[in-house]
Amino acid sequence: MLITLFNKIRNKIYHPNDNNFYYGEFKGTLTYWKLILFNLLFPGRFFNQLKFGQVKYFNYLKNKYMKSKPFADALLNQKLFELNENGSITIESYFSEKIIDDFKNEYKDEIFYLKNKNSDVNEYFKNGSLKIKNSLIKIWLDKDIIKLIESYMCAKLYARNYPTLNFSLGKSATSSRFIHKVKKTNVTDVWHVDHSTLISCHIFLEDIDKNGTCMEYVRGTNKYFNTNFAVSDEVIKKSNLSVAQCFGKKGSVNIHCGNVIHKMRPKPESNRLMLTFGFTAGSNINLDVNCVAKCLSSNFDLDSLDQKNRKLLQGIFPINQSKGYSIKKNGKLEPTSFRGI
Ligand SMILES: [Fe+2]
Repeated sequence: MLITLFNKIRNKIYHPNDNNFYYGEFKGTLTYWKLILFNLLFPGRFFNQLKFGQVKYFNYLKNKYMKSKPFADALLNQKLFELNENGSITIESYFSEKIIDDFKNEYKDEIFYLKNKNSDVNEYFKNGSLKIKNSLIKIWLDKDIIKLIESYMCAKLYARNYPTLNFSLGKSATSSRFIHKVKKTNVTDVWHVDHSTLISCHIFLEDIDKNGTCMEYVRGTNKYFNTNFAVSDEVIKKSNLSVAQCFGKKGSVNIHCGNVIHKMRPKPESNRLMLTFGFTAGSNINLDVNCVAKCLSSNFDLDSLDQKNRKLLQGIFPINQSKGYSIKKNGKLEPTSFRGI
């Protein structure tokens, strides 16, 4: 009761009335002082980023003034620089046609199933618990991609969810005004940020056209003290910041920081097939026993992974604790600390 009242007062201070730029759920802003005010009123996102070393502006400076280059390959150093500056990069044709074709061949039934789905409206059709096979591991745990993301995050990386096949069906163009009016959308076609410590990786399984259904992001907003309110198209336009599209040939890899303002931009009769991976610096891990069962039904041996990769997956595939777990009074699990019997 008191908290609801406090939230109402806070919202009123933050945003008293709807206008042409801020309306309904579109209360997000790119204005420096408004963002500072928001972070004072709603400090949760900032504190979580602080806890996991993900205050993006601090990390931006750390990377910008880093003396040594992490890669021997100049292209990867350049991509790290771009990711730090803009919050998203696409590495064109990173995976060879053969690697992508081998993967698609092994998962042809799952792809066929998703691609045969249809709808009258924009939709995501997903398989979020793919059976783990070597052709998937080869793409998911690519050493250089992981190293690039860890360098950007200035942190050790953990898988946040299970590898997901995503078939995005584009049926009609949308806008924040339209979504505000109809109060419904099935895809993330509003300007938003993800959970505070996340970063995502999209592997294009088919060519993605610049003018078709694709992701868009606002360059440089990864460094902002962003909020969890959606941002209207009008605010993006007014900001004069540059909007970029994520497109490329089959085998290209897009990486986008969860703190960059982004959205899916649907276009009529234009679809997108991707393999998507979520990573985190430590929070919001989606452990799900049903997914564990499905993913490992291929009899993949997790212990065949090297130690670094096994640890990277430990949030979604927990490593056995020698003394098991204890259930705390609040229902949370924690490894039993008592070493005896
Ligand atoms: Fe997102």
